[in-house]
Amino acid sequence: MSGTIEKTTTAELAPGVHIPLLGLGTWPLTAEDAAAAVSQAITIGYRHIDTAENYRNESAVGQGILRSGIEREELFLTSKFNTQWHSRKGVREAFAKASKRLGTDYLDLFLVHWPNPAQGRFVQACEGLQQLVDDGSIRAWGVSNFKPAHLRLVKEAGLDVPVNQVQVDPEHGQPEQLAFHREHGIRTAAYSPLGRNGGFLGHPAVTGPARELGKTPAQIVLRWHVQHGHVATPKSANYERQRENLDVFSFVLTQGQLDAIDALETGAPPRLDSDTYFH
Ligand code: A2P
Repeated sequence: MSGTIEKTTTAELAPGVHIPLLGLGTWPLTAEDAAAAVSQAITIGYRHIDTAENYRNESAVGQGILRSGIEREELFLTSKFNTQWHSRKGVREAFAKASKRLGTDYLDLFLVHWPNPAQGRFVQACEGLQQLVDDGSIRAWGVSNFKPAHLRLVKEAGLDVPVNQVQVDPEHGQPEQLAFHREHGIRTAAYSPLGRNGGFLGHPAVTGPARELGKTPAQIVLRWHVQHGHVATPKSANYERQRENLDVFSFVLTQGQLDAIDALETGAPPRLDSDTYFH
């Protein structure tokens, strides 16, 4: 590639709603760090930004978007809300607060951040989100950290979940979770797509293709996500890392290379257990 970064490819979440497969994660950036990282990313070419109420950076993300000068409709903006809002009325209030903090009158995607099954109201939260789609406040809805048991209850209420954002990387492949997504037409979005200090970035299954293709290990892993059809939102505030993380659409991994990375799967569960952890 000659210095230019191709546009990210997208997946269709709902009719006419296309999510860029590669976005910028923003946790744990806050305040000026978050605003600067978002503005820089948009200038580099990012068109998808991922934030959440609980990251406490929505206002800063909004500042970064404003600073970048981008037209709102050029950008795909995702946020997530906490479990205190799990009711139809509560979700509407969560949306009003999030959109105000972000300085936008609509969201492209709004997610139930955690199911909190002990509270037992995540189905109502999903119903509230569907109402926000129906009245045009948000373009698409989804969930995060939902296990198959939680997704089944949403399905039984008559709702098809468009997307579930979960912790996925080569060592946390979550094969049963992702098989459930495929079976039910749920798009997988990967958070921490590069792992937290993922030792796999130094594994020959990753460094081999990196050397062969003249790419960095992070680019190989993000390309692995993309070829599996995952949405991925790596976080970095660093200019070079932001650039390389977006530049994963100009090369292709072979089936053998994908299989070797798949084989790094350890069977480890996600870091946080969504049957008990929530905010
Ligand atoms: P940094 O932020 O210093 O660039 P998350 O799980 O929140 O997505 O975390 C991403 C982690 O991966 C951060 O520690 C981030 O470090 C690191 N990271 C992001 N991009 C790259 C990259 N291109 N190469 C190596 N590490 C990266």
